[in-house]
Amino acid sequence: MDMKLGQIAIYYNEGTKEFHIQGLNFSYIFKILKNNQLGHIFYGKRIHHRASFSHLLKMKTRGNSTVQFEDDPAFSLEMIKQEYPSYGTTDFREPAFQIVYENGSRISNFEYKEHKIYKGKPRLDGLPATYVENENEAITLEIHLFDELTATEIILLYTVFAHFNVLTRSAKFINKGKQTLNVTRAMSASIDFFDADFEMIHLSGAWTRERHVKNRKLEVGIQSVSSTRGNASSPHHNPFIALKRPEVTEHQGEVYGFSLVYSGNFLAQVEVDNFEVARVSLGINPFDFNWRLERGESFQTPEAVMVYSDQGLNGMSQTYHEIYRTRLVRGEWRDKVRPVLINNWEATYFSFNEEKLLEIAKVAKDLGAELFVLDDGWFGQRNNSKTSLGDWFVNHEKIPNGIDGLSRKINDLGLAFGLWFEPEMISKQSKLYREHPDWLIQVPGRRQSPGRNQFVLDFSRKEVVDHIYALMAQLLSTASISYIKWDMNRYMTEIGSMTLPTERQMELSHRYILGVYRLYERLTNEFPHVLFESCAAGGGRFDPGMLYYAPQTWTSDDTDAVERLKIQYGTSFVYPISSMGAHVSAIPNHQVRRLTNLHMRAAVAYFGIFGYELDVTKMSEYDRACMREQINFYKEHRELIQKGLFYRLLSPFEGNGNDTAWMVVSKDKKEAVIGYYQVLAKPNAKYKRLLLKGLDPNTEYEIEGSSVTHYGDELMNFGLVLEEGNVVVDQSGYKQSGDFTAQLFVMKAKR
Ligand code: DGJ
Repeated sequence: MDMKLGQIAIYYNEGTKEFHIQGLNFSYIFKILKNNQLGHIFYGKRIHHRASFSHLLKMKTRGNSTVQFEDDPAFSLEMIKQEYPSYGTTDFREPAFQIVYENGSRISNFEYKEHKIYKGKPRLDGLPATYVENENEAITLEIHLFDELTATEIILLYTVFAHFNVLTRSAKFINKGKQTLNVTRAMSASIDFFDADFEMIHLSGAWTRERHVKNRKLEVGIQSVSSTRGNASSPHHNPFIALKRPEVTEHQGEVYGFSLVYSGNFLAQVEVDNFEVARVSLGINPFDFNWRLERGESFQTPEAVMVYSDQGLNGMSQTYHEIYRTRLVRGEWRDKVRPVLINNWEATYFSFNEEKLLEIAKVAKDLGAELFVLDDGWFGQRNNSKTSLGDWFVNHEKIPNGIDGLSRKINDLGLAFGLWFEPEMISKQSKLYREHPDWLIQVPGRRQSPGRNQFVLDFSRKEVVDHIYALMAQLLSTASISYIKWDMNRYMTEIGSMTLPTERQMELSHRYILGVYRLYERLTNEFPHVLFESCAAGGGRFDPGMLYYAPQTWTSDDTDAVERLKIQYGTSFVYPISSMGAHVSAIPNHQVRRLTNLHMRAAVAYFGIFGYELDVTKMSEYDRACMREQINFYKEHRELIQKGLFYRLLSPFEGNGNDTAWMVVSKDKKEAVIGYYQVLAKPNAKYKRLLLKGLDPNTEYEIEGSSVTHYGDELMNFGLVLEEGNVVVDQSGYKQSGDFTAQLFVMKAKR
């Protein structure tokens, strides 16, 4: 039965056995082929529904190809676009899945059995995923495929959303037969495009330079990004790619986004075959993966979130921002504006005592901060990075009245209190290690390679997760903790579990991530008022999986304003402004030793979840006065910044990278905040203007600090003329000159 919901629909053409998923602006069409498997027809801009689309599925007879049906020389799976392809029966491209059967065979034949179409969206067992709040927000199509010989079932799940240009996909493998299966590849989504005339965008980098935008033309062969680090999606590659037509810009043209709701080893791949068909695969990385499926067991893949945009890259990003901000992030903090925080890490590192912390908190409170975060170093004997991870007991020498006492003192100053943990880690110098050396991820007889002097706990083990939960829950229930920074500073090496059976050792990385999710689930359920910020040596796990539990993520350990332009610009391709932790830190900057002025540092950090990470007690009276103004500015505009529509205007990745600009516009188009940044001063420079976006053409806007008003159409077509970037004096008389300048504009509809 067809189902419609407002403008979206899922149709089933009985006669031609075709499915048509019609989203707000896209169509997604596939059909049951004559071998009873699924063939893909179209994914692209929305088209009319009709009784048959079969004329779109052209199959060509090509000499020398191997065919499935002797009477049909055109029916070669190698030449057919497929929906969830297998390997070994005439398709030679990399498949969506692979199962090894008991007799050693890897040949499957999954045929259509039945389907269901219903309102709403089911949850995925043990995995983070987008959700609906009532069944009128989405329609779901469930396709059941069955392999008769082995009695194995695959359920493909498709959900189309009523309010977003989004299609989500996942797959579930169920062993209904009598043998044990080994699933060696299980993609969340696979799509065969008609052609390969695309560029692939991805977000790649490393620690302190995460999510730089990369762009390459698709070529015949395989191109991919992935993680093999076990416990992180990684700062090296993000679980996201986009395919865009070559002529596409930020604001125009056709883009397909693919984002995986997962925090561990992933693969995002495009294989272009020799007829220039592009096959996108997105899912858990099959490298070093083997999932044993006993009789009656099932395996659920993570969710792929696919966005179609005909409004360029920025259109794609806005869709990701909206769905992730409102239907991936959960809990009390989803819709609340986030507090301005002060974090002591770069102020003190490991050397602090209660007195010092209270001094910082006191000044920060006076400046207007709302949350004090105590970072690493408060527990065990943790005076450097060599010890105590796992011993989540307060160090009374540093904090005589315990976390409980300190948190109440911070509260008495008028600030909420937040605490740092690194729950997944263990130091060899710790009570935990002395008691449980086997809790480490390790391979007997092999070297154990340290990373930042620490090791990884085996989170695939229930007792390990339970133990860490108990320690964290104890602190959360006794002290007054409103925020947790959940850090993770090293990847998995010598991957092995001391308890998993031999044949399940290759499940460890995925089981570990499931353990992390379980702990998050338990803590967020039990302590719903706590705001979680995820972190992995900065932005090493900035992914949708984490956002489901932690509404914000520490974007990068690199807090230099210039470096942050690229990092925040790239991060905004997928992740909402409300998810990006962004702090003003000291100069010379601790990562790159650069000297940037206080205004520039704040003007970059405003476009995120704003805070400070420096020793406020050492700031001059003048700087403190500026900081007071900055906090006021952010508080006044944070509702708009955290929830408005974000537009990228000038890219630090294009041209000479000297200019960056972005803006946020309120949904009703009555307010906007614009940031423009110039890295190096230029002599005798050309005229500069910013072509603004997203305003109402017919509204007259006032710009704070200027007596001239402008219509939206003027600002979007003629643009906003910028001051000479080498010397900028803002409305409050703050003067920046030379390199590293920022200009901020606040505009409001004239009343
Ligand atoms: C890495 C994080 O990214 C930093 O912000 C800080 O929390 C340190 N770890 C503490 O060890």
